[in-house]
Amino acid sequence: MTQATTATMPEFDHTPTPYTGPRKAEVLAARKAHLSPGILTYYKDPVMIVEGKMQYLYDEMGRRYLDAFAGIVTVSVGHCHPRVIEAVHTQNELLQHTTTIYLHPNVSRFAERIAGVMPEGSGLSVCYFTNSGSEANDLAVMMARLHTGNFDILALRNAYHGMSPTAMGLTALHTWKYPVPQGVGVHHALNPNQYRGPWGYDDPDAGAKYAADVEDVLRSSTPGCVAAFIAEPIQGVGGAVVMPNGYFRRVYAMVRAAGGLCIADEVQTGFGRTGKHFWGFEAQGVTPDIV
Ligand SMILES: Cc1ncc(COP(=O)(O)O)c(C=O)c1O
Repeated sequence: MTQATTATMPEFDHTPTPYTGPRKAEVLAARKAHLSPGILTYYKDPVMIVEGKMQYLYDEMGRRYLDAFAGIVTVSVGHCHPRVIEAVHTQNELLQHTTTIYLHPNVSRFAERIAGVMPEGSGLSVCYFTNSGSEANDLAVMMARLHTGNFDILALRNAYHGMSPTAMGLTALHTWKYPVPQGVGVHHALNPNQYRGPWGYDDPDAGAKYAADVEDVLRSSTPGCVAAFIAEPIQGVGGAVVMPNGYFRRVYAMVRAAGGLCIADEVQTGFGRTGKHFWGFEAQGVTPDIV
């Protein structure tokens, strides 16, 4: 005999504001009429979210959801955190926008705080703020090419690095590629997936074996020198693929010997999301040149 159990939400001291906006059907119709169909909702009956409070979201009926998705790992401190609201509100009342040609204490203070959470002695102390992960990767590739004077980039199959033209060329998932010119000079090495790859999960030499493929690509598809190697410390969109032990250490050494820089794409793994470490690369015992 089986016993059915129903999960109940824990108590939470927040009453959502009664929703008075347009009905869900109207919102859906307006979205279909005026937004690109390329922007998906993922659901047959899309959920409409109108309020958030810490780890919870509320739909237009006031129904509460536990948010395990956090806006695709974006809302790192919960929804409408009072400290975030207060800081945004205070700044909005004083000054909303100028430009980087003027000084303002906050932008350099923020850069200093970010540098402060990089591993000690890493030399990672200079920030360049961008608007998205794709732009950050475009910029990282551009900087690596200009700094090294090399052109070729090594990336991994099953990687996701964004959808701008350069980032799409780094990405190696067919669901996120369009038939347009992209990825000139980008070479994708074997995905070091311990579950699905050619070597078993328990293979103690998996790190070295997957790294050997990077060397093979380096020797067969590039002039022997590269601008950079880019990888996610844990592949996110590709399905939470954790790199085998020692893999990054070997690949980073190989890439540096070929004149290249090592780029860690921390869009999903950074900012404390993996728990123990602030950055995903720290679990691999390596220090990238660009994060
Ligand atoms: C690892 C990784 N890199 C880059 C990106 C692209 O970021 P954005 O969508 O902000 O351009 C994403 C987005 O999900 C990502 O997961």
